[in-house]
Amino acid sequence: MPEHESHVFDVVVIGAGGAGLRAAIEASAAGARTAIVCKSLLGKAHTVMAEGGVAAALGNVWPEDNWMVHFRDTMRGGKMLNNWRMAQLHAQEAPDRVLELEEWGAVFDRTPDGRILQRDFGGHRYARLAHVGDRTGLELLRTCQQRAVSLGIEVFMECKILHLLKDSSGAVSGAVGFWRESGKPVVFGAKSVVLASGGVGKTWKFTSNSWEGTGDGHALALWAGADMIDMECVQFHPTGMVWPPSARGILVTEGVRGDGGVLRNRDGERFMFNYIPEFYAKETADSIEEADQWYDNKKDFRRPPELLPRDEVARSINSEVKGGRGSPHGGVFLDIASRRTPEYIKRRLPSMYHQFKELADVDITKEPMEIGPTCHYIMGGIRVDADTAATTVPGLYAAGEVAGGMHGANRLGGNSLSDLLVFGRRAGQYAAEHALGMPGDVLVDSGQVQEVMQEALAPFGRETGENPYAVHHELQETMQSLVGIIRTESELLEAKDKLADLDERAAAVGVEGHRQFNPGWHLALDLQSMLAVAHCTTLSAIERKESRGGHTRDDYPASDPELGKVNMVTRLAGTTVTVTPEPLPVMPDELKTLFEEGH
Ligand code: FUM
Repeated sequence: MPEHESHVFDVVVIGAGGAGLRAAIEASAAGARTAIVCKSLLGKAHTVMAEGGVAAALGNVWPEDNWMVHFRDTMRGGKMLNNWRMAQLHAQEAPDRVLELEEWGAVFDRTPDGRILQRDFGGHRYARLAHVGDRTGLELLRTCQQRAVSLGIEVFMECKILHLLKDSSGAVSGAVGFWRESGKPVVFGAKSVVLASGGVGKTWKFTSNSWEGTGDGHALALWAGADMIDMECVQFHPTGMVWPPSARGILVTEGVRGDGGVLRNRDGERFMFNYIPEFYAKETADSIEEADQWYDNKKDFRRPPELLPRDEVARSINSEVKGGRGSPHGGVFLDIASRRTPEYIKRRLPSMYHQFKELADVDITKEPMEIGPTCHYIMGGIRVDADTAATTVPGLYAAGEVAGGMHGANRLGGNSLSDLLVFGRRAGQYAAEHALGMPGDVLVDSGQVQEVMQEALAPFGRETGENPYAVHHELQETMQSLVGIIRTESELLEAKDKLADLDERAAAVGVEGHRQFNPGWHLALDLQSMLAVAHCTTLSAIERKESRGGHTRDDYPASDPELGKVNMVTRLAGTTVTVTPEPLPVMPDELKTLFEEGH
C-alpha cells in the first residue's frame, strides 16, 4: 500500500451542509485548527431542501410568540418522543441564531416595517418561519459558507470518509477516506470529530435527497460504537413531485400550503377535513369556510387542516391514493393557482414556479401541482448529549440531521434549519473545548488505515461480483414497499430477511475499471452505509409496536403511552445490530406545565 496523504487538525467536521458549516465556524472561532471534509462540493447539501424557512420565535408577526410556545409545538409535533432538553435549547436559542445569520449577511424577506418576515408552516402555532422566498436553506448555506471561508477554515471536498479512527483508549482520533477523483486514501488526524453528514434518503426509492444522502455519518457512528436512537422515525414529506418520473421525489415546499395552497383529491375535494386527528381537533378548522377565514384573520379562526404536521398530512395523502381518489400519476393535487394571484405566487414561491415549469411543463399560477409523499428526513439518529452534542464515543460529536432526539417521532417543517444552527454551534463549541483541552498530538494507527483501505478496494478484485446498482435498486424497493409510510409486522420481518440477504450480496459486489472517479465503486461503498441505516430502521420499527409520528404501524394504529416513554436504541454487538428500549430523559415539572390547558 502506498504511503497515504495525511492531515492533522484539532477538529475535523464531516459534512458541509448547514450543521457542518456552523460547527466549523464555532470551532474555528474558539481557536481550534478546524477542517471541513465533504463528500460533495461545498454548498451542495440537503440544507437547500429546507426551502420554506427557519423556525424561530422572533415574534415579528405575532408578538404573542415566544420560546415556550415553540418548545410546546415542537414536542407535540414530535409526539413527545423528543429529548426535551434539546427541544428547549432549540426553542430558546433559535432567534439568536437567526439574528446572527442576518448579521453575517443573510437577506431575509421583510415585514412592511423592515423586520424579518415570518410565514406559517404546519404544526407551528404562529407564523414563525423566517424565510427568503422559497430559497431559505440556500441563503443559510451561502451565508455560512462565506463566513467559514472568511475565517480561513480549510475545506476538503469530494472526499468520502470510510471509517472513524480510534486510539487505544477508545476515543476517536480521526478519520480515513479517499478522494473521489483519484481514489487515493487520505487520513485526517483529529482530537475531536463532528459528524454533520445529513440524512439517509437514498435508502428509499422516492426521496427529496440527492445522491449524497446515503447515511454515511449514521453508519460511521454505529461502526465506531455510538448509540443510535429512534431510527424507525422517518419523515415522508407530504409534498414531493410525482410526475414526470425523472422528477419524482423532488421537494415541493410546505411554503406552498403556508402561503394558501390547498390539497384536493381527484374529485376536487379538500380531503384533509376528513383526517383531522383528535390530538389537533381543538385548533384545526373543521369547515372550508372557517379554514378560509383563517387566511384573512388568523386571530379569530382555527388553522386549516392542510397545515397539520407532516406525518398527519402524508398519511392522509397516502390514504386518498390507496382509496382510489388520487391524481393520474399516483399523488393528489396541490392547488395554489385558484387561491392566489400569479404575481403573489411568483414573488413568494419563485423556485416552485420555475421547478414545475422546467421539470413538468406545469404553470403553477394556472394549474394545480401533482404531489405525493417523499422520503425527506430522519428524526432518529446518533444519541447525543443535549447540551454538548457529544455522542457516547469520546471525542465524537454530532449535529443536524445525523443526530437524534431533537425532533422526536416527527419534525415540524422549518425546525431543521434552526436545529442545525443551534446544535451545529454547540457541537463546534464543545468539540473545540475537548480538543483544546487535550495535551499532546493525535496518534493515527496506520494499521487501521491499511485495513480500511484494503476492504474498500476489495470490490475491484471480484470479477464476477454483482453490480452494486442492482443491489441498491433492491434495497430501495425493499425499504419503500416494506418499511415505508405504513408498516406491519409481517412486512417488517420480510424486510429484515431481505436485508440479511442484501448484506451478503453487497459484500460480494464487483466493480470494473480503476479507482479514478468510479461511481460504481462509490456506490458499492455507500451501500454499506445505507444497509447499516436500513437495519437500524427496520429493527427499531419491529420493536416499536405502536404508531407515533413518522412511524405508523397498521397492526398497532394507536400510540402506546408506555412506548412513548422509551427510545429505541440500536447499537452494534460484534457485527450485529441490536435494539433495546431505554427510558427517555424525564421532563422537569416546570416544563410539563406548558402542556396544560391554557397554554
Ligand atoms: O417544505 C420545506 O420547505 C421544507 C422545510 C423543512 O424540511 O424544514
